[in-house]
Amino acid sequence: MIEELRKRFDVEDNQKDDIPWSAEELRRRLADKDGVLPTGSDRIDAAVLDAAPRLKAVCNIAVGYNNIDLAACSERGILATNTPEVLDDTTADMTWALLMAAARRVTEAERWLRAGNWKGWKNDQFLGVDVHHATLGIIGMGRIGRAIARRARGFSMRVLYCNRSRAPRAVEKALGVKYASMDRLLRESDFVSLNLPYSPESHHLVGAKQLALMKPSAVIVNAARGGIIDDAALVDALGERRIAAAGLDVFEGEPKLHPGFLGLDNVALAPHIGSATRATRTAMAILAIKNMTAALSGKRPPNLLNTEAWPKRRR
Ligand code: DGY
Repeated sequence: MIEELRKRFDVEDNQKDDIPWSAEELRRRLADKDGVLPTGSDRIDAAVLDAAPRLKAVCNIAVGYNNIDLAACSERGILATNTPEVLDDTTADMTWALLMAAARRVTEAERWLRAGNWKGWKNDQFLGVDVHHATLGIIGMGRIGRAIARRARGFSMRVLYCNRSRAPRAVEKALGVKYASMDRLLRESDFVSLNLPYSPESHHLVGAKQLALMKPSAVIVNAARGGIIDDAALVDALGERRIAAAGLDVFEGEPKLHPGFLGLDNVALAPHIGSATRATRTAMAILAIKNMTAALSGKRPPNLLNTEAWPKRRR
């Protein structure tokens, strides 16, 4: 993909080690750049933007953009874009992988097996919870939430959802989903999936109080963003078996994670790989390049986030 970029631009990259540049390094590198293609791990804040007087475009290679200070971009006439849609199904698949792994104790059983513990089949070995015909609660019914709801039909699940605004009735009908308050969803669901962006409003949306509403047999899955769940509260709830299990792809302060998770058997853990298939990561890169090419040739990028920056964009 980087070769595609090189056909059009002079490119400075960190592909070799793929280690995010520190804030200081990022400021230094961006001092003379017209555009930057960050991933979700690169913080593009006001200080970084101030060090980049020529910067015209920040084209995230991610759908989530909580790593970018959008208001600061807009103030400076810098266009910001993301990569929506191309990763919806892949992220929904990963959510499902975590849901199944946590429900059926797949990662826990594998660890036990690899440690040489298996001496024979037993009737009560690794009893999990059924996914089929259970109730799934989806918090955040955007494109990824909807892709998850479509998959739930194949498992004959009842699906509740909550969202900032209710989906049109036709969408509810087509997906077979029912709108509910978050409290009701948490009380009635066997599985809860978080599918919303991280923002100050969604910070610790699920904390001790919300976890206390869930069934002791319930499983929670987060393949959205760290910080939406209060990880310390989740470690406590899992440790005390107040809920059955969790499947997590994202963490507060990642790549660090709450040390409590590592000592728990009832959590399936993954290192933020929700969109990590070759096809999807390629599609994300292609879309980010499209956005960058448009922005730097004076055209409105297809996935412009801060539309208010367009009239006053840097040229
Ligand atoms: C996204 O696209 O937001 C994924 O989480 C990868 O960062």
